[in-house]
Amino acid sequence: MAVISELTILQPADKEQIDLPRTSEEELAVGKKRLYIESYGCQMNFADSEIVAAVMRNAGFATTSSAEEADLIFLNTCAIRDNAEQKVRNRLKHLTGLKRQKPELLVGMLGCMAERLKTKLLEEEKVVDIVAGPDAYRDIPKLVEEAESGQKAVNVFLSREETYADISPIRLNSNGVTAFVSIMRGCDNMCSFCVVPFTRGRERSRDPHSIVREAQELFEQGYREVTLLGQNVDSYKWHVAEGLGQRVESGENQLPHALTTVPSAPTTFANLLEMVAQIHPDLRVRFSTSHPKDITDDVLHTMARYENICKYIHLPAQSGNSRVLRLMNRTYDRPWYIGKIDRIREILGEDCGISTDMISGFCTETEEEHQESLSLMEYVRYDYAYMFAYSERPGTLAAKKYTDDIPEEVKKRRLNEIIARQLEHSAERNQRHIGQVQRVLIEGPSKRSDEFLCGRNDQNKMVVFPKGSHQKGQYVDVLVTECTSATLLGQVVSH
Ligand code: SAH
Ligand code: SF4
Ligand code: F3S
Repeated sequence: MAVISELTILQPADKEQIDLPRTSEEELAVGKKRLYIESYGCQMNFADSEIVAAVMRNAGFATTSSAEEADLIFLNTCAIRDNAEQKVRNRLKHLTGLKRQKPELLVGMLGCMAERLKTKLLEEEKVVDIVAGPDAYRDIPKLVEEAESGQKAVNVFLSREETYADISPIRLNSNGVTAFVSIMRGCDNMCSFCVVPFTRGRERSRDPHSIVREAQELFEQGYREVTLLGQNVDSYKWHVAEGLGQRVESGENQLPHALTTVPSAPTTFANLLEMVAQIHPDLRVRFSTSHPKDITDDVLHTMARYENICKYIHLPAQSGNSRVLRLMNRTYDRPWYIGKIDRIREILGEDCGISTDMISGFCTETEEEHQESLSLMEYVRYDYAYMFAYSERPGTLAAKKYTDDIPEEVKKRRLNEIIARQLEHSAERNQRHIGQVQRVLIEGPSKRSDEFLCGRNDQNKMVVFPKGSHQKGQYVDVLVTECTSATLLGQVVSH
């Protein structure tokens, strides 16, 4: 999954989105106490903060966009690399100062770093009052009460079932046009470098009906794009018997017992994608992240069938070398990955946007193996990439089995080579669009000037154009006339 707060290369879409002002609905929410939430890490964490905001609103808290005004501050944290955790630690230093001025202020740590460090966080960071892992968000009001009574409060239990399916998220930092919808939680993959299976627990899928309902409601509220989120969306699976079981339990849709036991094919990701795409042709559908071992032709054909499913796939390679991929426990090799890229281009055409995640300097990676990452990039010519130097995470398979033996400066140099190559490819892939007319969903004013609007094309590229009389939430056709490595520029030709 794309990590929002730590981009090594510009991802215009996310950059534009993050700094937008909050909705007035959220600011006007009635509540006695004020909650400020700051999110780090991937889109799933940002989506989780919206669930937390909903849980807290029920408990009488309103959200605020000012940390200084808040009675309660939550940091929804990421543990993916050491620098992600350092960023949060620095932020806690600032909050320590704030708490000195306002001793009744409560500080909670949520998310993956909270899950990873558990009670150790309370020992190491005195400013923290509450620690809640990703599956403990329903319990937060109780934890807050405990903290209000002067105790430290912790819940880091991971669940096999929790999907927060019934909670309608409160959209934070929303542009009112695009929204994230979580379709599953956790990860069962155990890539050797990755902390996520430890911080988010076992993979579980969310009831498709609750997903479709959420997307439908978003559409009715004026949203025009949903991004379906999971660490590995291609392994989404929902068994009908499971679904009926859950609904019978909650007392809704009671069905004769015989029906609950009729075996029926599970809902796959391709099925789910289709269900969401059918809500309305004007509702765009995106998804992230696809795993090269699991993405199926079925998904690609579904994408091809529906114009409103965006032709863009985030397919993280991590490395271009088969030996390194084996050590990473990615369960595919270079030829398999290339085969998937070829399938995408066969079924969806050359214009389908493709992005990746790349790690430089994984344990024992040789110079030749690093060159294979570069040559894979040459082969694919990605539209974007999220690129990282390997950061050993305590407790992961790699930390246990291999030595983190590539010197920092070598990791950095390799990373810089990867970044330089990607900049060339991003520019080249953007230039392809010059002279083309692109369908753009308007997300709001451009960051640089109110005279311009911006929105993304199918391939997730930010397109900037003069405002005219157009409004956010509309679709327009833009003739692309110029580009940078991060943005396309053009003029509206029709809408
Ligand atoms: N589920 C997604 C990835 C989620 S983590 C997938 O399988 O692709 C986002 C990205 O962070 C990963 O794709 C990987 O490139 C990077 N990452 C994860 N652990 C890392 C580590 N220990 N050091 C450096 N980068 C890491
Ligand atoms: Fe981490 Fe691998 Fe799961 Fe992605 S698929 S979250 S990289 S373990
Ligand atoms: Fe996401 Fe970071 Fe957790 S990338 S899943 S918030 S470790």
